[in-house]
Amino acid sequence: MSVVIDPAFDPVPSLARSTRVSLTALPPVDDIATAVFVRSEGELPAELAEAGREALAAAGFTGAANQTLLLPGARLRVLVGTGERGIESDAQLRDAAAAFARAAREAGRLAIDLTGVLAEGDWDVEVAVQAAIEGAALARYRYDALKSDPKTVALEELSLQLDESQIEAAEIGVERGLVLARTAALARDLANTPPRHLSAVKFAEVIERLAPEFGLEAEVFDREALIELGTGGLLGVNAGSVEEPRMIKVTYRPEDADGFLALIGKGIMYDSGGISLKPSNAMHAAMKFDMMGAAAVFASMTALRDLGAKTAVTGWLMCTDNMPSGSATKLGDVLTIRGGKTVEVKNTDAEGRLVMADGLVLATEEERRPDAIVDIATLTGAAMMALGTRTAAMLANNDDVAAQLQAAADATDENIWRFPLDHRYRDQLKSTTADLSNIGGQYAGVILAALFLNEFVDGLPWGHLDIAGTMQAESDDLWRSTGSTGFGARLLAEFAAAFEKPAVEETDTVSGETDAAPGETGEA
Ligand code: BES
Ligand code: MN
Ligand code: ZN
Repeated sequence: MSVVIDPAFDPVPSLARSTRVSLTALPPVDDIATAVFVRSEGELPAELAEAGREALAAAGFTGAANQTLLLPGARLRVLVGTGERGIESDAQLRDAAAAFARAAREAGRLAIDLTGVLAEGDWDVEVAVQAAIEGAALARYRYDALKSDPKTVALEELSLQLDESQIEAAEIGVERGLVLARTAALARDLANTPPRHLSAVKFAEVIERLAPEFGLEAEVFDREALIELGTGGLLGVNAGSVEEPRMIKVTYRPEDADGFLALIGKGIMYDSGGISLKPSNAMHAAMKFDMMGAAAVFASMTALRDLGAKTAVTGWLMCTDNMPSGSATKLGDVLTIRGGKTVEVKNTDAEGRLVMADGLVLATEEERRPDAIVDIATLTGAAMMALGTRTAAMLANNDDVAAQLQAAADATDENIWRFPLDHRYRDQLKSTTADLSNIGGQYAGVILAALFLNEFVDGLPWGHLDIAGTMQAESDDLWRSTGSTGFGARLLAEFAAAFEKPAVEETDTVSGETDAAPGETGEA
């Protein structure tokens, strides 16, 4: 490649940074910046009683949730609004910690007194500490790897004040919070890296380098190996590119593994649309994020050993860019997916499902069949149209998998909403020349894409996350920092760490396949 990229460029700068967390029963004494939680109703904290609500309101501070006001002094104090009822959930605490850390962006050392929050309601101190760390650390994430003069003040220390009796129980929350913040930051780094700085080839190199550090194995498949495997979807999408494709198989094998999970991630390093070229607008300019699914899968797996996950996990990262050129896949071309199903490409911009199909089939072919398959992909603009930028679409052929994904979404505040896998739309994916078409009609784009993927899961318990809407934050917003959100990395880590083999087989009400055994479903 004739374009100059600094050979020393580090695509994962977050891994070189770390925040020190201390738990203490004592109030801060030195110049550490402190949060003061303030409700919009009721009595003010003692230290603000003298100022009074009117003075605070005159400064624009009412105590509304996540509002902040800086009070300069020998020690910076940051008022953080907690609304009428105060902080009642771990999600609210994550938000409040993020609001604080963001408002105090010039401070390297932060202190939060959690005793008041934890004294009310029914708290699990471990969960609270984890949420506070995630919120503060992720709010301070900034992608400045390519700035000549980054002005970011690193979050060096976070001091959390607890009751003496709670400190021991909180230690595990510190560990989990730091691991999950690192996990999300890693996914953000990878997704924020520009497409030429992180081609599929380089992504594979980064993973090969990092995998052993996190107790993972990585196997990289280059173009030749992919031809050998017959991954026609991945190769077909790659056909227009001068960059080689890569499939990266990442494995986590704990001793005495209980259960086996497969995770498949969409790794379109850059999605131009191919011959069905996207218009040159802001959406197109965001398409370096089209590998967020793959980034989330890999990042989540770097947390598994530290979280003590007992489930064996295999990740399949399906990586290439999607480019137009004289050699690109044409409309009307037919690709043969691994396993033999043929797909007529009617729109080269519906490329994600093509690369994912190969990954899904490979996952079903594993000698030890997975107990569940979960895929994650920035798959459809329709997901963004339907749910906006805060909630991802989830579809599943199994209620238990869906429930476990929902639980992980609740724990991480990476919100998801289940859509029906409505097989009545399946006819739209028919093709006159091939087994399937890669697009359906104009409506229900999220469901059609999921129905397409469903053709390749061989009836195994399966969940699908469409994160197109949630991949990016256009501006800083609590723990979501501008750029890649890292959405899915924490969710999948929590999901995999808590995974239990699904108890029920096939429970989807609109599937029309209620009693089918694995292997008998998905007839074309
Ligand atoms: N990567 C895009 C989906 C996307 C859109 C992600 C907006 C993030 C924000 C995907 O490959 C795509 O282009 N999907 C098409 C599918 C259509 C041609 C059936 C879309 O959504 O328009
Ligand atoms: Mn596309
Ligand atoms: Zn795409």
